[in-house]
Amino acid sequence: MNQLCVIPGDGIGLEVIPAAVELLKAGVPDLEIIHADAGWNCFLQHGESVPQETIAKIQHCGAALFGAVSSPSYKVPGYRSAILTLRQSLNLYANIRPVKSLPCISPRPDVDIVIFRENTEGMYAGIEQATVDQATATRVITRLASRRIASKMVEISKISGRKKVTIVHKANILPLTDGLFRDSVREVINESSREGVYIQTDELLVDMAALKLVSDPAFYDVIITTNLFGDILSDVASYWCGGLGYAPSINLGDNAAIAEPVHGSAPDIAGKGIANPIAAILSAALLLRYIWHLPSLATDIENAVQTALVEICDPETRSIRSGMKTIEILESILSYL
Ligand code: NAI
Ligand code: MG
Repeated sequence: MNQLCVIPGDGIGLEVIPAAVELLKAGVPDLEIIHADAGWNCFLQHGESVPQETIAKIQHCGAALFGAVSSPSYKVPGYRSAILTLRQSLNLYANIRPVKSLPCISPRPDVDIVIFRENTEGMYAGIEQATVDQATATRVITRLASRRIASKMVEISKISGRKKVTIVHKANILPLTDGLFRDSVREVINESSREGVYIQTDELLVDMAALKLVSDPAFYDVIITTNLFGDILSDVASYWCGGLGYAPSINLGDNAAIAEPVHGSAPDIAGKGIANPIAAILSAALLLRYIWHLPSLATDIENAVQTALVEICDPETRSIRSGMKTIEILESILSYL
């Protein structure tokens, strides 16, 4: 029996995650749910954003569904973003962010990109120092982490029939760090082609890659990049699926996985019952596809989302009909599952 650790976190995480869990349970009736705590509120209550118990529960289940955390953008002694702590302490080195056109909602019908974001180092290594007049952050790139995200990219591209990868970097300005990333990724792709897995490979500097993501998104099939670039480019790319309310992701390691919507805790709409649960629902589908090996159920959920969107989308505004509640969106999707 599959077990799932459920961590709503803060803000709209508390609204979209229960909706995604309800949908998962409709597809996997014997799914066992184990609840856990993490985030800013958890920090305020217990003095830590990720209790050891939460890590142990995720390790026990092997799979988690995470909502979002509110992280203040100033230094709070003792606090570190819960999701960053989870990614690093569970060694969830590959953040996979698919962006696919959705009916009615998406501004274009032909976008189908998977972004592989290195998830443990780069600008998110957590090494910052400051005096009164100067602050520095250390950007860490290792061969090991670059190779393992590349291996995951090759593995998943192979099973999902992806043909072309674009390595995104800034090796003209950061030749040592981003040069190492680019060369390590190419090394892995070359090794896999000798083993019969052929993926056409090109590379772009991140600024040009960003422009192309806006002007010609259908150019891309798979993107692989470092942590910060992946964070920024995946928010940009999410425009093509309809925005942050529709963008799913999964953090994969060798022993655990955490699926999470790309969006944050959305304090501007939290508590109103109007958050869009689709990003969380599509993230749950990624658990079915990549962790529990139930790809046809994942496809059923994705299809139910698409059919529901045709019903609940206002084509004039390309958004879900105004005033629709989280629960109503869920019910519409459930009715097509
Ligand atoms: P955000 O993603 O929370 O919100 C950006 C905008 O998109 C807001 O206007 C929000 O209302 C809207 N939005 C996001 N998700 C939505 C949904 N499901 N349905 C409808 N509208 C949605 O990003 P923001 O405002 O930059 O950050 C807010 C907080 O979230 C911050 O504390 C930040 O640190 C945190 N955050 C957490 C992340 C995570 O836990 N992985 C990721 C990004 C931000
Ligand atoms: Mg982000």
